[in-house]
Parts: sequence; C-alpha cells; structure tokens
Amino acid sequence: MKRILFFLATVCLSAAASSKTLVVYYSYTGDCEAIVNELTKQISADVVEVEPAEKGLRYEANGYALGTQLLNAIKAAPNDAASYPAIDPVNVSLSEYSTVIIVTPLWWSQMAAIMQSYLFQVGKQLAGKQLGLIVSSASSSISGVVADCKRLVPDAQYLSENLWINNSNRANTAALVADWVENNGLNQTENTMHINIIVGAKTFTATLADSETGRAFAELLPLTIEMNELNGNEKYHYLNSTLPTDSYQPGTIKAGDLMLYGNNCLVLFYKTFSSSYSYSRIGAINNPTGLAEAVGSGNVSVRFEKSATNTTGLTYQTLKNKDKGRLIFHNGHVYISRDDNTYTLTGAKIR
Ligand SMILES: Cc1cc2nc3c(=O)[nH]c(=O)nc-3n(C[C@H](O)[C@H](O)[C@H](O)COP(=O)(O)O)c2cc1C
Repeated sequence: MKRILFFLATVCLSAAASSKTLVVYYSYTGDCEAIVNELTKQISADVVEVEPAEKGLRYEANGYALGTQLLNAIKAAPNDAASYPAIDPVNVSLSEYSTVIIVTPLWWSQMAAIMQSYLFQVGKQLAGKQLGLIVSSASSSISGVVADCKRLVPDAQYLSENLWINNSNRANTAALVADWVENNGLNQTENTMHINIIVGAKTFTATLADSETGRAFAELLPLTIEMNELNGNEKYHYLNSTLPTDSYQPGTIKAGDLMLYGNNCLVLFYKTFSSSYSYSRIGAINNPTGLAEAVGSGNVSVRFEKSATNTTGLTYQTLKNKDKGRLIFHNGHVYISRDDNTYTLTGAKIR
C-alpha cells in the first residue's frame, strides 16, 4: 500500500512539474519549418528540430530513390533499430513536457524516415503524453503517416484532430493552424503569468509556472532583493515567507530557470548544467541571453515585478525583428507586438 501511495505521489509530482508544450519537427525543404514558425506564433511552446546524421543527402534525387530506400528498410524490419537512418542527438528532456506536437513531411504516403528514427527512439517516453500530429505533403493524404505515428508511439493520448497541410491549402497555413489550435484546446494560455526580472539596466521577461508555487510567488511581487552568488551558476535569496512546494529533480538546470529550493529559497540560475538536486519550479526567463553578464560574478540586486502587458501566452520565441510593431491576431484578440518581445492587448476582440 505504501508503495502504491509513493507511486501515486511520484506521478502527481511529475504531472505538476510538467505542463509545457514541445514542438518536434523535421523539414527537408522548409515546408514543415514554415508551419512550425506559424504554430509558435500562436501557442507557447519550446521547439526542437530532428536532423539526419548524414548531411547533404538528396532524398528526392533519381526519382526519390534514397527516400524510397530508407522507407523500404523501415518497412522490412520496423522493430529493428538498424532499419532507421541515423539522426543527430536531440537534446531535450521529454519529462518536462505534457504535450508534444510532431510536425513532419509525408514521404511516399508514410512518415518521413528521419522523423520515424526519432519516434522509434523516444516512443516509450511519449506514453501518456498528449500528442499532436501535423503533416505536410504535396498532395497525398496522411492516413499512412498517422498509422506510422501510432505504430511508433502507441500509448500517447492523441489529440482529436490531426492537421494536414498540402500544396493546395498551404497559403492558408495561419488560419488552418489557428483552427487546429482552437479545436484541440491548445490555446488555453490566457492565465499565463509573465513577470519582469530586472537586473541593473536589463529587463528579462519570464513566464511563471501555472502551479501553486508559481502563483504564490506572483503574490509576493513586486519584490526587490539582494541575491547571493553560489557555484558560478546561481543566485539565491531566502524569502521571508514560505511558498507551497511541488519539488522534482529537473536533471538539467537551464540558464534562466527560477526555482524554489526547500520552501523558501529563491534561486535564479544563470548557467545550464546537470544537477541531482530537487526544486519546485517557479518559472523561467524566456530568453536568458545576456543573463550571466547582467548578474555578474558576485551578489546582485534583482527586482521581480508583474509584467504590465500580462495578457497572453504568446512568447518571445516567435517574435522576430520583422514582427515588431505588427498587429497580431491570437485567440480572438488583437495584440501589438512590442520591442521588448512582449505583446500588448489592444482591447479589440474579433469573432
Ligand atoms: C522522399 C520524398 C517523398 C515524397 N513523397 C510524397 C508523396 O508520396 N506524396 C506527396 O504528396 N508528397 C510527397 N513528397 C513531398 C513532401 O511531402 C512535401 O513537399 C512536404 O511539404 C515537404 O516538407 P518539408 O519541406 O518540410 O520537407 C515527398 C518528398 C520527398 C522528399
């Protein structure tokens, strides 16, 4: 019984620790990459690309000979790792994500061999996660790709709709993605809390975890504190009050992670490294570029405050220079993108 309770507690803790979305894509000629760029304008997600280990191959040459050969090898022995083309290591910790969206090209009515290699490697780790599938083809329909995905990842919770983009609807990618996001309930990010972390003259935007720890931390803001240097990778400060905890072992700490050690030690990490310690996640700086330089090597004064433009789950990752100052339509609202990589709600709502 004790063991079951421990198991349940572990499950609850890991569920609480992971509520993020990961987009995994492969793109040979750029179509899937363009879809990912659109998707990440509309939802808050981390993105990783799967790449073949062997570069410069031409899968379409000689009547698609190489692409065909790779797929035939998989078909002949789908349970044998040696049947799958080698890929570069994909450095992402899947345990951090509750939703994974696969964006892949179709090859000969099957899933592109390179993406099959990745899913063959991680299929078991995706069990129980919410899984979305977006497929790009010239014209062929995607049932074979869906079947490949279900063979490689049999135990995921598939979203109710897949998205198929092809050459005849590609011009409408933005609207198709918006509908797909809405129909699958992926746009429920209105409660996402953004804060500013101000170090000297530099302001970093961070997103708080949608958890009791994240929400309790938000209640303490604004907060200006002296943070102490430790180990060349973190700044910490003991808060006057305790916060609720849901601690877990992140394994890899990323620069920009904002964590709670114990129940009252606020830690801001400014380097990425492996760790065996347990923390409760408070949130993370969206773009930690320049953080290490800003906090320096000693103790530092840091201000935490709620963002004035706290309106949406859209994140910096999707905001390119060319987007700045543009009107952006998201989830029925109109936003203006700003120079500091946040979005301001204009007040307009379109339906
Ligand atoms: C080896 C190979 C086989 C393909 N087979 C098909 C096919 O059977 N049917 C189809 O409609 N498109 C096929 N395509 C076209 C791709 O599915 C399509 O161009 C897709 O949008 C490419 O995505 P990407 O640019 O992200 O690589 C094939 C492409 C390659 C390279």
